[in-house]
Amino acid sequence: MFKAVVICLSDKGYRGEREDKSSQVIIDILKKNSYEIVKNILIPDDYHLLKHTLAEICDAGEADLILTTGGTGFSKRDITPEATLEVIEKAVPGIPEAIRSYSMLITKRAMLSRAVAGIRKDTLIVNLPGSPKAVKESLEYIISTLYHGLEILTGKASECANDRK
Ligand code: MTE
Repeated sequence: MFKAVVICLSDKGYRGEREDKSSQVIIDILKKNSYEIVKNILIPDDYHLLKHTLAEICDAGEADLILTTGGTGFSKRDITPEATLEVIEKAVPGIPEAIRSYSMLITKRAMLSRAVAGIRKDTLIVNLPGSPKAVKESLEYIISTLYHGLEILTGKASECANDRK
């Protein structure tokens, strides 16, 4: 069972002006896929806070997977990809490429998400967009493949043979 942390980036959510529905969508999908949710954090769109939070979780080995939601768009306060890029040691461009290419079949606005993904130590970090709808569409598309990536990352599998899903 892989351990996951869910981080919602939302100024309005943090101030209590908007309910964070996206984290619950992520948690439901993760649980359905046998992940253990070790933390669900709601923070404002703050570059230094996100950077610090991501680094701390990875360096403590608290989670195999961190999923962020929100802050990937064009608004002045959207800093999720920048903070993520600052802490990762290896970029994993294929994941956001896959999400955007699939999502473009649903809405051309998918091209507006600047989401990134990467690895720090033994933890994979993946940015998801902010809306519950976008989160569901994006995560359901990648979830089965994430599992194989995490198997390799954590040393639970060493080869990519056989399963080509
Ligand atoms: N991806 C999917 N699959 N479905 C969506 O509805 N919305 C897009 C995009 N990605 C969307 C999507 C929109 S409208 C925006 S502005 C960007 O994600 C960035 O969202 P964020 O700023 O909430 O992270």
